[in-house]
Amino acid sequence: MAEDDNIPTHVAVIMDGNGRWARKRGRPRHAGHRAGVGAVRETVEVAAKRGISYLTVFAFSSENWSRPREEISKLMGLFVEALQREVDELHQNNVRLRFIGARQQLQPGLQDKIAAAEQQTAGNTGLGLQVAVAYGGRWDIVQAVRRLAMRVKQGHLSVDDIDDDSVAQELELAGIPDPDLLIRTGGEQRISNFLLWNLAYAELWFCDALWPDFGERQFDEALTFFARRERRFGHTGEQVKAVTS
Ligand code: FPP
Repeated sequence: MAEDDNIPTHVAVIMDGNGRWARKRGRPRHAGHRAGVGAVRETVEVAAKRGISYLTVFAFSSENWSRPREEISKLMGLFVEALQREVDELHQNNVRLRFIGARQQLQPGLQDKIAAAEQQTAGNTGLGLQVAVAYGGRWDIVQAVRRLAMRVKQGHLSVDDIDDDSVAQELELAGIPDPDLLIRTGGEQRISNFLLWNLAYAELWFCDALWPDFGERQFDEALTFFARRERRFGHTGEQVKAVTS
């Protein structure tokens, strides 16, 4: 892609299809998740190379707690392993790692590794990588509403001052611009309770590739799609042209 391409600032990714990737090969589901870690690594590398500032990946949803216990436990083990193996290299590459979601629901060992990884990379100035674990878009909004209600109850905030910005500031992605582009692999065309508030104006790109097969080629296809979109944010095409020309 050429340097003057219209590169999104923030890309969000729903990584779907690990289970089907494994089934196609007659292997257990966790083999698909393990292969999926490789695709995460490649996606992070491409994002950094293309000059994307923020990448947010959906690794485990609030709803995923209802999967078979063995699959959950293998996935959690994989997160711990991936953190142990990858954090130093992410740090060397100036990546700032942050986790979003109900981390108190995770096993204490994983919570500790997450906190250590965030601390180690907190001062980095390159790609901001957000990993959503035990995350749900509705959960995120409910948390924000609770915090705002508490501030109203304590007399620190008036109901009339609640607006888009005050809600956004209480969400998990506070301080990070909304995703410009959402990528979903695995053939389904749904948001699946991902960043419900933050995806309001995102361009949506879906592909049939299963997550472990996602790589530079598909990522570039998504970026080409994005570069050709005219983003209107509710304005008319003429209004947008008048501002940008
Ligand atoms: C969806 O595929 C994938 C997940 C629920 C897990 C995603 C996890 C990874 C890619 C591994 C590690 C991630 C990090 C950040 C280290 P699915 O199981 O729903 O697939 P299916 O729809 O084919 O069943």
